[in-house]
Amino acid sequence: SEEKLQLVQRHVRAFPDFPKKGILFRDICPILKSPAALTAVIDLFEEHVRSHGWQVDLIVGLDARGFLFGPLLAQRLGVGFVLVRKKGKLPGTTLCVAYDLEYGTAEVEIQEDAVAPGQKVVIIDDLLATGGTLHAACELMKKQRAEIQGCMVVIELKDLKGVDRLKPHGVFSLLQY
Ligand code: PRP
Ligand code: HPA
Repeated sequence: SEEKLQLVQRHVRAFPDFPKKGILFRDICPILKSPAALTAVIDLFEEHVRSHGWQVDLIVGLDARGFLFGPLLAQRLGVGFVLVRKKGKLPGTTLCVAYDLEYGTAEVEIQEDAVAPGQKVVIIDDLLATGGTLHAACELMKKQRAEIQGCMVVIELKDLKGVDRLKPHGVFSLLQY
């Protein structure tokens, strides 16, 4: 598992000053380009779910890069996948939660019938920064009366203290910067 982590780590690149001056952007695209690295990510997520005895009815993935990992994990676990999207993308009746961005606000949405009350879910994204996005997704899960088993990301940016924002839910990350 240490080897798998190193394999994943070798497939993350850093770009200075993207998308703005002063930001060091962590890019996960090389993971997707490498079947071995992508398999390692899913293996490590699966091992975490199983070793913690998490019962999972559904994987919930966040727009957009949570969609790259979530369905693979769901297939591995033999469960379904549901989408949390940025506002205005999903048809039918939806539930909505607003959250703060650096400038202004954004909203995430889920289809009302995506999760049934009492279903156990794990929320997946590529990266935890301030935690605003994952926190909003947790609020959506509360509205659906889902039982959150935990959140998992490939990368945690520690300086931004997203984990504090997400208490009482734990966030498991493969890599920390
Ligand atoms: C990024 C990232 C997470 C979120 C993390 O997505 O993929 O979803 O930001 O930031 P936070 O912890 O401060 O909320 P982004 O909003 O850039 O959207 P994208 O996935 O559509 O590129
Ligand atoms: N990489 C990718 N997405 C992000 C980052 C980053 O460094 N920071 C906030 N969202």
